[in-house]
Amino acid sequence: EQQDNWDGLPMSKFQGFWCPVFVLHPLLCFQRNFKALDTDVLLASVPKSGTTWLKALLFSIVSRDRFPIDQSPLLATNSHRLVFSLECFYYAEDDDPDLGNLSRPRLFSTHLPHQALPSSLIESNCKIVYVCRNPLDQFISEREFLLKNRLWPDKPYGEVLSLDEAFDMFCDGVQAFGPFWDHLLGYWNASLENPDRVLFLKYEDIKRDPLLKVKKIAEFVGLPFSEEEEKEGLVGDISRLCSFEKLKDLDINKNGIHFGSVKNNSLFRKGDIGDWQNYLTPAMAERMKTTLKAKLSGSGLILDI
Ligand code: A3P
Repeated sequence: EQQDNWDGLPMSKFQGFWCPVFVLHPLLCFQRNFKALDTDVLLASVPKSGTTWLKALLFSIVSRDRFPIDQSPLLATNSHRLVFSLECFYYAEDDDPDLGNLSRPRLFSTHLPHQALPSSLIESNCKIVYVCRNPLDQFISEREFLLKNRLWPDKPYGEVLSLDEAFDMFCDGVQAFGPFWDHLLGYWNASLENPDRVLFLKYEDIKRDPLLKVKKIAEFVGLPFSEEEEKEGLVGDISRLCSFEKLKDLDINKNGIHFGSVKNNSLFRKGDIGDWQNYLTPAMAERMKTTLKAKLSGSGLILDI
C-alpha cells in the first residue's frame, strides 16, 4: 500500500506502519545487521515529540563523568550529532555503518515503531527510553517544521495539503511512522511487559518536573545520581543545560546546519504545551479525543489533551 503524506513525502505501509520510502532500505539493513549490546540505550519517538531534548538529556546523563557541565559538548554541538538516529546512520553509511568505536553506553535514536525494531535489539538487555507527546502538539509541531523545511527538495513533491486535509490524514492514522496511536501503544505495552527495559515518558511530564524525570532516566539507565552529585546540584544543572531556553540560544543551534538546508534553529520552535490551540479548532480537538479514546481503550494509556 502506497500513499503520499500531506507534504508529498512518499510512504509505503510496511510491517504495519507508514514507512517513508527513503527509510525502507536503511530499515532492512538495520534489522538485518544491527548488533545490539546489553549496555546500549535507544531513544524512540514519533518525530516532533521531544527527540532533540531527550537526546540532550540522555547524553548529559550518561557522559557526566567525562564532561563538567561548563565543558559539555552540547554547548558547541547539536544533540543530533551526539546521539545518532539509526535510520539516518544506515541511510548515510549504506548498509553497514561502523558503530563499534562509539563510547559506552552507546546512545542511539529511532522513529521506528516497536514492532520494527531489529530482533538483536529486542533480545538484548539494552534500555529503551520512549518519549511521546500530546498528538495535537505533535501534529502542529511537525506541520510547522515541514512547511518551513522541504526535507527532500530534489524529490518530486506533490502539492502541500491544507491544514484540514492534513488533519484528516492524521486522524486516519496516515503519517510518517504512524499511525500515531499504534506507535505509542507498541512501546507502552512493551513498558508494561518489561518496565526494566522500556521507560515510557511524556513530554508534558518532563516539562512540568524536569528534575524528577532527569533522576528517573538516570536510574533507569543504571546511572543514578549519587548523594554528592545531588548535593552539588548536578540534576538541576543538567536540566537547565538541556532546557529549551538554553539550547535555543546557543550559537550552534541559532546558526548551525542540521542537514541539507535544514538549520538547527528549526529544531527549536516554541517548546510549549498546548500550542495546538493557536491552530486547531475545539471541534478538531474533540475529533482527536474521540479517536484516541477508541484506539487507546483498555490500554491504560491516557494522554494529556
Ligand atoms: P514545537 O514545534 O512545539 O516548539 P523533535 O526534537 O522530536 O523534533 O521535537 C521538536 C519539538 O520539541 C519542537 O516543539 C521543539 O521546539 C521542542 N523542543 C526542542 N528542544 C526542546 C527542549 N530542550 N525542551 C523542550 N522542548 C524542546
